Amino acid sequence: MRTRITHALLLAQSITTAVTTQARDNTYDYIVVGGGVSGLVVANRLTEDKNVSVLVIERGYFDDKPEAIVPYYANSLDLDVLISPTSAPNPQLNNDTFSVAVPAVVGGGSVVNGMGYLRGSKEDYDAWEALGNPGWGWDGLLPYFRKSTTFTPPTSDAVRDFQYPDIATIWDAFRSQDDVPVRAGGNAGDGPGAYWLPSTIDGRGMTRSTARKAYYDPVNTTRPNLHLLTGHTAREILFTGSAPSPTANGVRIVSRANNSTRQVYARKEVILAAGAIQTPQLLQASGIGPSSVLKAAGIRVKKDLPAVGANLQDHATTILIFSLTNQSFPNPDTITTNTTYFAAIWAEYLANLTGPISAAPASSAILFGLPHLNSSAAASVTSTKLLSQSSTLTYLPSNAPSSPNLFLSPAVPSPSTPLTPLDYQ
Ligand SMILES: Cc1cc2nc3c(=O)[nH]c(=O)nc-3n(C[C@H](O)[C@H](O)[C@H](O)COP(=O)(O)OP(=O)(O)OC[C@H]3O[C@@H](n4cnc5c(N)ncnc54)[C@H](O)[C@@H]3O)c2cc1C
Ligand SMILES: *[C@@H]1O[C@H](CO)[C@@H](O)[C@H](O)[C@H]1NC(C)=O
Ligand SMILES: *[C@@H]1O[C@H](CO)[C@@H](O)[C@H](O)[C@H]1NC(C)=O
Ligand SMILES: *[C@@H]1O[C@H](CO)[C@@H](O)[C@H](O)[C@H]1NC(C)=O
Ligand SMILES: *[C@@H]1O[C@H](CO)[C@@H](O)[C@H](O)[C@H]1NC(C)=O
Ligand SMILES: *[C@@H]1O[C@H](CO)[C@@H](O)[C@H](O)[C@H]1NC(C)=O
Ligand SMILES: *[C@@H]1O[C@H](CO)[C@@H](O)[C@H](O)[C@H]1NC(C)=O
Ligand SMILES: *[C@@H]1O[C@H](CO)[C@@H](O)[C@H](O)[C@H]1NC(C)=O
Ligand SMILES: *[C@@H]1O[C@H](CO)[C@@H](O)[C@H](O)[C@H]1NC(C)=O
Ligand SMILES: *[C@@H]1O[C@H](CO)[C@@H](O)[C@H](O)[C@H]1NC(C)=O
Repeated sequence: MRTRITHALLLAQSITTAVTTQARDNTYDYIVVGGGVSGLVVANRLTEDKNVSVLVIERGYFDDKPEAIVPYYANSLDLDVLISPTSAPNPQLNNDTFSVAVPAVVGGGSVVNGMGYLRGSKEDYDAWEALGNPGWGWDGLLPYFRKSTTFTPPTSDAVRDFQYPDIATIWDAFRSQDDVPVRAGGNAGDGPGAYWLPSTIDGRGMTRSTARKAYYDPVNTTRPNLHLLTGHTAREILFTGSAPSPTANGVRIVSRANNSTRQVYARKEVILAAGAIQTPQLLQASGIGPSSVLKAAGIRVKKDLPAVGANLQDHATTILIFSLTNQSFPNPDTITTNTTYFAAIWAEYLANLTGPISAAPASSAILFGLPHLNSSAAASVTSTKLLSQSSTLTYLPSNAPSSPNLFLSPAVPSPSTPLTPLDYQ
């Protein structure tokens, strides 16, 4: 026992010095590609068993800048830890291209995201289950949503001090839309409506709660069986066996420091957790994907799998700006225009962990169902294109798999749906 502990401590010391930029071994039980939200959770759970070794390969590095820690920066879109590839031209949107926010940092999206904690609607998850995934419906997932969260209610001081006074007027505007149901809490699976939006904050220190802080830091010095390799990009999944059933047994990785390439191997599984954009990209680069796409790119087809790289449903962002007059003091603009106020609220955060700097900027949200967007200039887009996408396959890329079951439309609840009790846990 004593020897084992000493060994762990020695490893811990080397981990905290330089080891995170080098893979110690060539072979592990599991290799996880991507040290983001899902990758760090899976690696943490697997290494609860001391006899299981896990290597996590992460393209990014640790980020300890204030932007990664202080809730106030939640919407700052820190370009230091994002790679921002440009989308393909979108034929449904005048062939416009868009910058796509793709995280590259230990902790992944949880280090740069807007910190809004909002579960999807029951119908979304039940549609997953209906596609043939028993246990992945709302009822099956709810215990895991609860397991992965600890709800810290805001103190009454926080409610008074964090919310700018004008938020009351904005909520009155939400309520005046009689086709937008006002929901009590955002996490009971109710679907479209107006919500108070909890933030993913670690209530112990009022810092951003990230996958790194919640699932890696607590074990980083005590689990020699967990190894996180930063600054390395997985370029190719390696396989044994051949079509139609190749079996993944390793990964070819490249160091961002010097472009050196090496191969690491998995005795049990290679787990892909590289995010919605880069997981399919890595599969395609490894020969798993639609054969027409792979052939056009000069990649040898190991398995023709048309779904890889198809059916991404993106979370589009449009910024609407309204000019408000006669705002109360303080208001969100006060932070950027009044240096005395800015200094005072920073001092308050540093001294007491309270005030606006301890909160994410967004505390309210409205989710519209598409049918709500029918009375304005958006009508032509929503009615003629987006809405018809629910019932036809017209607007999918030609290589997309075409199961009509993929387009189960969640029901939009009627405004008369009664408010549900607060269900944050
Ligand atoms: C700007 C922004 C705002 C968001 N706001 C919210 C919000 O307010 N609320 C919310 O719930 N969700 C939000 N999200 C979404 C949320 O962050 C993601 O759903 C979540 O991070 C997805 O987890 P993941 O594990 O699938 O991928 P990620 O967390 O992205 O992790 C993937 C990891 O894999 C690494 N990686 C990728 N390719 C490779 C490779 N080839 N080799 C090695 N490593 C690789 C990446 O560097 C990354 O760390 C936001 C996302 C963004 C980008
Ligand atoms: C640990 O793992 C090894 C190899 O995977 C296996 O041979 C051994 O039986 C395991 N030991 C325990 C205690 O599970
Ligand atoms: C978009 O690009 C395609 C391919 O180049 C072209 O056929 C189409 O006319 C373009 N659409 C618009 C709206 O410009
Ligand atoms: C390990 O986590 C602690 C915080 O729990 C942190 O201070 C330390 O820098 C981390 N070390 C590494 C190598 O991540
Ligand atoms: C690695 O290779 C890429 C592509 O050839 C090049 O752009 C980059 O500068 C190289 N990086 C280093 C650190 O050598
Ligand atoms: C490249 O950098 C890695 C660390 O990322 C180091 O382990 C390796 O020795 C370097 N290789 C060469 C050829 O310099
Ligand atoms: C400005 O707001 C105050 C307090 O909310 C209100 O009493 C006043 O009538 C408003 N003035 C105008 C011009 O709307
Ligand atoms: C700026 O903020 C300070 C500190 O909160 C406050 O006393 C002052 O009235 C503010 N100035 C303006 C112009 O609102
Ligand atoms: C911290 O809180 C105490 C007690 O409420 C208060 O007296 C003090 O002014 C606060 N400090 C700052 C910098 O706001
Ligand atoms: C727009 O939505 C409202 C409320 O849901 C509905 O009453 C109306 O019929 C819709 N109009 C059209 C043209 O679909």
